[in-house]
Amino acid sequence: MSIHKEIKKVTTHVLQELKQSGQKISMLTAYDYSMARILDAAGVEVLLVGDSASNVMAGHETTLPITLDQMIYHAASVIRAVERALVVVDLPFGSYQGNTKGALNSAIRIMKEAEAHAVKLEGGEEVVDSVKRILTAGIPVMGHLGLTPQSIYKFGTYEVRAKEQAEADKLKRDAKLLEEAGCFALVLEKVPAKLAGEVARSLQIPVIGIGAGSEVDGQVLVTHDMLGITHEFKPRFLRRYLNLHESITAAVQQYIQDVKTGDFPNEKEQY
Ligand code: KIV
Repeated sequence: MSIHKEIKKVTTHVLQELKQSGQKISMLTAYDYSMARILDAAGVEVLLVGDSASNVMAGHETTLPITLDQMIYHAASVIRAVERALVVVDLPFGSYQGNTKGALNSAIRIMKEAEAHAVKLEGGEEVVDSVKRILTAGIPVMGHLGLTPQSIYKFGTYEVRAKEQAEADKLKRDAKLLEEAGCFALVLEKVPAKLAGEVARSLQIPVIGIGAGSEVDGQVLVTHDMLGITHEFKPRFLRRYLNLHESITAAVQQYIQDVKTGDFPNEKEQY
């Protein structure tokens, strides 16, 4: 008999069961091994290797510059840490749009080289052929509608999307199309709570919101935002659970002082 406790891995089917039984799904971003270990052990169901790594990890203003190779590096680091969570990896800008074969190749590289569990891509009708082609290889796909940061130069701002009826109607049509194409879940970013609730109730697949209110099937946040590592970014939807920016600054300042005064290392901290 194994001495290891059996770990029930989170699969796309588990997420479906959670929705059916009315239990909410928790999802957070992860980009590296150490943080992913903590998040997985804490019990979060889905880890998203988001292309927000472009902002948070690399300091770019948008998500557009991050490459497929860089996403695979982050994803492989996260996968090595994870025992239980479902790991979903963003297909980066330029790796899937307008070319279904290219989309399939990008998704296969993520699954093969990072050993990820699923991919996510942004858009509706425009990318539905790519979604279908990726699914032919047995790769689970998560959709992403509403504010889709890879289209920031089209939108012009990071404001709430789909406040107008025409855009809300298109979002509802796109959500249905993605479900029919075979997506196992959908992220809705920064859209009115009422619209998000309607979409969640109209679909069988789980809808995970970020800035999309409480009537959806789960929530996702960027981990660095909810832990307060980033501190300038203050959207209304963000709840900060820690202020790590302050705690880390204080700890580092204490360390500098201890080094300068000779307090560190003390006798017990040397050989
Ligand atoms: O890249 C990301 O972090 C995301 C979430 C905001 C959903 O796509």
